[in-house]
Amino acid sequence: MNPAWTIENFLEVKNNQLHISGAAAADLANRFDTPLFVFSEPRIRHNINRLKRAEAVTGCRLKICYAAKANSNMAILRAVREAGGDLEVNSGGELFKALKIGFRPEQIIFNGTSKTEREIEEATVAGIYAIQADSIYEIELIERVARRINKPANVSLRLVPEIETETLHGLQTALLTSKFGMMPDEALAAFKHWKPDDEFLNLCGIHLHIGSQNPNAATYAEAFKTLFENLLTIFNETGHRLSHLNLGGGFPVNYLRDKSNAGDFSSEQRDFFAAELEPEEVLREAWSVVKKTARETGAEHLLDNIELLIEPGRSVISDAGVCLTTVRNKKQRPLSEIPNPESRIPNPDTWLLTDAGFNILLSMETYKWYYHLVSVARAGANHSAKYKLAGPLCDGGDVYFDIEGENRLPDYRLLPENVQPGDVLALLNCGAYSVAQMFQYNGRGLPAIVLIREGGAVELIRKRDEYADLLTNDIF
Ligand SMILES: Cc1ncc(COP(=O)(O)O)c(C=O)c1O
Repeated sequence: MNPAWTIENFLEVKNNQLHISGAAAADLANRFDTPLFVFSEPRIRHNINRLKRAEAVTGCRLKICYAAKANSNMAILRAVREAGGDLEVNSGGELFKALKIGFRPEQIIFNGTSKTEREIEEATVAGIYAIQADSIYEIELIERVARRINKPANVSLRLVPEIETETLHGLQTALLTSKFGMMPDEALAAFKHWKPDDEFLNLCGIHLHIGSQNPNAATYAEAFKTLFENLLTIFNETGHRLSHLNLGGGFPVNYLRDKSNAGDFSSEQRDFFAAELEPEEVLREAWSVVKKTARETGAEHLLDNIELLIEPGRSVISDAGVCLTTVRNKKQRPLSEIPNPESRIPNPDTWLLTDAGFNILLSMETYKWYYHLVSVARAGANHSAKYKLAGPLCDGGDVYFDIEGENRLPDYRLLPENVQPGDVLALLNCGAYSVAQMFQYNGRGLPAIVLIREGGAVELIRKRDEYADLLTNDIF
C-alpha cells in the first residue's frame, strides 16, 4: 500500500525510491547536492487549476493573485504566470521581479504596511491593477505621488474588520490589534473624502486578509459578507461603486496527510496542520451568504460585473516543493523522555544531524512548522524507528522538535531503522515561506533549487551559493 503522503502522478514511491513528478529524488540529490529544494511545475499548475475551479461557483470573474511573498524565485513566478495566475506583491523588489518576468501591470496588486514613496511611484507609473492602501496616511501619500507624476493611481483599501480565525497568533491579520489595514469607518471616511470622479485617486476596491492556514470555511463566509456590507455602505453613503472585492489568501494545506506523527501534537496544533478546505467549496459557501445579504438589502445590482480577487500563497506553492537534506552526523544521547521510569539503563536517543536547518526552513523555528519527513532511498519502507532530528546551525533551537516542550512539534521523527550519515531525507510541503526567507547564517550559502518542468525535464532555477557569494555586498 502507498504511504499516506504520496500523491498520484506527483509524489510517488517507485522501487522503494521517492520520485517527484517522475524524477528520482536520490538522483537529484546526487546531481545537485543537498540541501536542495525541488519544485514541480505540474503541481503548481494543478494547484492553480484547483483555485480556478472556484470561479464557476460565483459567476464573477475571479482573479487569482498568487502571493509572491510565499516564493518569488523568478522561475516559480514564470510557472505561476504560465499557469494563468496573476500576482500580489509586497514590495518594490517583488514588483520589479513581477514586471521583469512578464506579468502585465493589470495582473499585479501591491500590498504592504510600509510602502515608500518610491515604491508607490513605481506602482503608479506601471499602472498596476491596485495599490492596496494600508492607512489614511498612505492614501494621502499615494495621492501626492499621483499628483506629482500626473498619473492617477488605482487604489483599494485594506480593512481590519475584527475577524478572528483559528490560526496561530502571528498569522492573524484581520484583528484591530494587528498591524494591518484600517478600520471600516476610516475607510468610509476616505471614500467620502475622495469622490468617484477624483482626478488622481481611483478608489476601486476593498480588501481584507484574515490570515494564513485558515482551517474554517465559515470564516471566509464571514469575511466575504463583511466585504459586501462595506461595499454596500460605501455605495449608499458615498456613491462609490466598487469594481472589486479582495478576499485575501490563507487557504490551508494539509501538512498531516500522513498521520503517523499526528498523535504527538497537541490537539489544536494537529487540527491546525491537518486543515483541509476545498477553495471551490469555500467560495460556494461564502458566495451564497453574500448573495443572500445582497437579496435582502435589494443590492444585487452591486454585484453585477464585480470582480473577485484572492491572494493564495501557501495553497499554490507549499506542496509543490520538497527539501532534500543529507544526514551529516549521528550520535546517541540519553533519552529525553524515559518511557519506563523503572528502567535502570535508558536506551539512548539516536540523533540525526542534517544539513537543513532554520536557515532554509525558518518557519520550523518561528512557528514550529511541521514538515513530514521521509527517507528518499527507502521511501516505501516502514517508517517506525524514532529519531531526534536537528539541523546544522550553532543554535540549540535548530531542531525539528519543540525545544520549549509545548508539544507544538513531535519529539521524535519516524524513519526506517538504521539511518546512517550520507542518507538523504525529504521534507515534504516545504515550498511556501522557505526559500523566500532563507539566509546565509553561520556562513552557510543558500541552497540550489530545481524545477521539474511539465514533461519531466529538470531545470536548475537557482544555483547553489559558493563561498564567494558570502562576500557579496560586503565592503572590505
Ligand atoms: C495580504 C496577504 N495576502 C495573501 C497572503 C498569502 O497567504 P497564504 O500564503 O496563507 O495564502 C498573505 C500572507 O501573509 C498576506 O499577508
